[in-house]
Amino acid sequence: MEFSSAADYMSRIKRTVITEEEIKQKTAEAGRFIDSIYDGKPIVLVSILKGSFVFLADLIRAVSVPCETAFMAAKSYYEGTQSSGVVKITMDLDRDISDCHVVIVEDIIDTGRTLNDVVKLLKARRPLSLRVITLLDKPSRRVVPFEADYSLFTIPDLFVIGYGLDYGEYYRNLPYIAEYAE
Ligand code: IMP
Ligand code: MG
Repeated sequence: MEFSSAADYMSRIKRTVITEEEIKQKTAEAGRFIDSIYDGKPIVLVSILKGSFVFLADLIRAVSVPCETAFMAAKSYYEGTQSSGVVKITMDLDRDISDCHVVIVEDIIDTGRTLNDVVKLLKARRPLSLRVITLLDKPSRRVVPFEADYSLFTIPDLFVIGYGLDYGEYYRNLPYIAEYAE
């Protein structure tokens, strides 16, 4: 991707979809939800890279139960704009989760393929419990039926950037969520 200037880079941010303030509020609620479920039990928050690292950073500061963090990277392969349906784990967890309460932290559920595969994989390792929390959900795009246990925002079929989400690896650092101008 090439940009002729900073103004060109910024001009592709079409409009704000979710503000920083809205994200803050919902993240605090999500933290209280996690606290109420685990009630002092230690948990492992598993961040699916790269998209969820910004959300994870704020979410861990909104929970009060003892929590560890772990990271895993998954890539869905695309042919043009169409998902090929192949999900590859490019970096696995560096720890055993068999004695743990696991919470998968994802940025967005689109077709559902990534989480469907990741959940199958982690369930096979027999954690004490497994739940999924997602920042964003685009239910209208589902190809594989999949529902998160907790979703902060449901959005229509838009391509969004910011707060960890990228277009061609850019825009992850925006503090809010915006629609990308195709
Ligand atoms: P799924 O397997 O189709 O559910 O894809 C999930 C992954 O696709 C997410 O973790 C994102 O990395 C990416 N993705 C889906 N929709 C968007 C979007 O609107 N903006 C940025 N990335 C997206
Ligand atoms: Mg992702």
